[in-house]
Amino acid sequence: MTDLRLASLRQAVPDLRLQTDAADLEHYGRDWTRRWTPAPLAIALPSTVQQVQAVMRWSAAENVAVVPSGGRTGLSGGAVAANGELVLSLERMNKALDYDPVDRTLVVQAGMPLEAVHNAALEHGLIYPVDFAARGSCSIGGNIATNAGGIRVIRYGNTREWIAGLKVVTADGELLELNKGLVKNSSGYDFRQLLIGSEGTLGVIVEATLKLTDPPPASNVMLLAIPSFEVLMQVFAAFRARLQLQAFEFFTDKALRHVLAHGAQAPFDEVHPYYVVTEFAAGDEAQEAAAMAAFEDCMGNGWVSDGVISASDAQAAQLWRLREGITEAVARYKPYKNDVSVRISAMPAFLAETQALIGEAYPHFEVVWFGHIGDGNLHINVLKPDDTGDAEFLQQCEHVTKLLAAVLARFGGSISAEHGIGLVKKDYLGSTRGAAEIALMKAVKRAFDPQARLNPGKVFDS
Ligand code: FAD
Ligand code: MLT
Ligand code: ZN
Repeated sequence: MTDLRLASLRQAVPDLRLQTDAADLEHYGRDWTRRWTPAPLAIALPSTVQQVQAVMRWSAAENVAVVPSGGRTGLSGGAVAANGELVLSLERMNKALDYDPVDRTLVVQAGMPLEAVHNAALEHGLIYPVDFAARGSCSIGGNIATNAGGIRVIRYGNTREWIAGLKVVTADGELLELNKGLVKNSSGYDFRQLLIGSEGTLGVIVEATLKLTDPPPASNVMLLAIPSFEVLMQVFAAFRARLQLQAFEFFTDKALRHVLAHGAQAPFDEVHPYYVVTEFAAGDEAQEAAAMAAFEDCMGNGWVSDGVISASDAQAAQLWRLREGITEAVARYKPYKNDVSVRISAMPAFLAETQALIGEAYPHFEVVWFGHIGDGNLHINVLKPDDTGDAEFLQQCEHVTKLLAAVLARFGGSISAEHGIGLVKKDYLGSTRGAAEIALMKAVKRAFDPQARLNPGKVFDS
């Protein structure tokens, strides 16, 4: 059966690179979640848009499910292929195609790694500002499909803000050209925005027209030690009032301990409950003075216990490592990840309630908190205790997420701020989206993909 399908795929798309080695099936069938056993039919690695179209036409004819795949750094199981799907990897379509200095846009293929996009923008003296630690391995297509956020959302917004156009192959192999790089376009529904964040369930993104912008003036990175979460928001307000913030990220002492155990250098002699890494424009004396004034005010009010400011790019990188290294540092504890958001002003109340709730239900859990606090986005990582089996741990974490979802519903928050729903959070979609909204989402899915062949079972069951 399998061989017949692959034979027909080879016939339908003769030049397509197809891989079926056990190691490849394993490698391409999973993402960073590592929770599901990979079991794809095969891996297709097209090199042209026409090949992607031909693969989707074949998928329609043979009724085979397809999982669009980027760098598989996703944290929600969106790119997992565990049910005999064809993995459609965009990794060979990884080039910049065009740059327009008047529009200040860069056209790229979907498989281009985010870091390569950054470098291509810099070649034109501009930046593509969405950025986060997986930059070397994630793809721009995956970023768009998850509407990735990252460390500079406070200044530049999410991926959604930076997409001027998309080329998308539909479930039936049609090519849609969405928005074509236009700044203004009020000609009806904006399918470009619908595709952004659709997690591979509505179409395969093959090309994107990215907006670029000017690089920031020289910036400084500061690490602050904070005595309590309540005052952390005061520090945020004080810094935001005086400075053009590019990042305002937080982590706890527990998170720091894991990063230090992973080889980073301790920033302070003493241990503090919370830390903030903030980055701000510091191109002139007035901005430098504003930064010092914000820092001194906060010290004077007892909102900040200590601080260090980068004096070189190397030091800035060292400070960033303390925040960006957390995901890698805790990976060996098979963390169960929650990626939630509430309004920024609601963060202290939300965190206090959630901390109490998890602490009461599962006092033995080590919970590592960190995230994009300036965006109201918390990453709540529950680490697996050594003496708890995988299945039991998962059951307990699902219970935690259920409790969390109820709190989120009350706060009007989101069960996924930036990682996507994928497989891991689909049971909790209703905590964030109303029943009528979910019914409409399913109707949209049916309109784009009536046979439910594109990433089936992700976001919701089709
Ligand atoms: P994949 O994991 O391959 O896929 C993700 C989803 O997109 C899947 O549903 C897949 O089917 C779909 N998809 C992929 N390519 C396409 C395409 N061409 N067309 C249609 N659908 C497609 N995320 C953040 O938002 N902010 C962060 O700060 C952040 N930090 C991270 C740090 C680390 C160390 C790691 C490991 C991950 C981090 N992530 C972060 C999560 C992840 O990197 C992002 O979700 C990223 O956007 C995924 O890109 P990818 O190419 O790896 O996508
Ligand atoms: C981060 O902000 O570091 C990422 O979203 C990764 C994670 O949540 O582990
Ligand atoms: Zn994040």
